[in-house]
Amino acid sequence: MEINIVGPGNMGRAIAARALTGGHSVCLVHPDADRGRAAAAELKQRFPDGETGSATAAQAADMTVLALLYNVTLEVAGSARAMLSGQVVVDICNPVDFATMDSRVTPADTSAAEQIQQVVGTDAKVVKAFNTTFAGLLTTGEGHGFPLDVLIAGDNSPAKAKVAELISSGAMRPLDVGPLRRARELEALGFLHISVQQPLGLNWHSHQDPPLTEPDGPVHPTLPSQPKARRSSGLATSLGHRCHRQATRRRRLPRCRQTARPPLRRS
Ligand SMILES: NC(=O)c1ccc[n+]([C@@H]2O[C@H](COP(=O)([O-])OP(=O)(O)OC[C@H]3O[C@@H](n4cnc5c(N)ncnc54)[C@H](OP(=O)(O)O)[C@@H]3O)[C@@H](O)[C@H]2O)c1
Repeated sequence: MEINIVGPGNMGRAIAARALTGGHSVCLVHPDADRGRAAAAELKQRFPDGETGSATAAQAADMTVLALLYNVTLEVAGSARAMLSGQVVVDICNPVDFATMDSRVTPADTSAAEQIQQVVGTDAKVVKAFNTTFAGLLTTGEGHGFPLDVLIAGDNSPAKAKVAELISSGAMRPLDVGPLRRARELEALGFLHISVQQPLGLNWHSHQDPPLTEPDGPVHPTLPSQPKARRSSGLATSLGHRCHRQATRRRRLPRCRQTARPPLRRS
């Protein structure tokens, strides 16, 4: 696929790296031509065989990833509306109130992704993806030895299939969580994930690993069975492996105390 990545920042470069891993060609877009060129040159060094280019505005392509802050995403989506017509448009933003870090800036009855769909019109198919994965892990596509799960939501099945292809070819696992209105929950999840980083000391290395699989196969019939090593143990892993280790330690403590007790003497 030919993919525009608008915004060559942390997420834009990380998604571009996954796309190049998957054999897609990428065009890094920034209004300052030098910024786009510099990002493309950096990626070319890491992926010498990959097709990378740059531009000052979104080009004709199969897909455009808007790797921008929320307010800029809305602006760019509006100004590029004609070019985005017919494309899959990937929204990755977390519309967090960065002044307080205590809420989202979107009304409760919508999401950034739904707002973007309105702005670009129905000829472009918006898919929410990547907002629940952090850039540092996306660069390699894995966390703690496991391929990343990338949660996607959208109303158009062929568009979601293209985004799923981008994700799978980049050595990650796509999980379709439903229609575009599920972006409300994805954005809430993204916000929650961001907000627990400092209090739980996760250092932006945690990732969602939803407890969607059981030892004997998938919980949901549409999900693929997972290899043994991929099975997660529930809530703790959904907040990151470091939390999981803390939770495990807490659960194990009473058992340790039991084994430390002296054995009962028979009289
Ligand atoms: N970072 C994460 O781990 C993470 C995870 C999930 C989701 N997200 C979401 O991903 C989005 C991007 O985050 P980020 O961390 O990648 O931010 P970032 O590093 O600041 O990248 C944003 C990029 O957009 C560029 N930009 C600004 N205006 C532009 C325009 N009109 N056209 C093209 N490019 C423009 C910026 O360039 P300048 O530097 O010149 O302004 C910068 O390179 C945000 O919505 C965030 O909520 C981030």
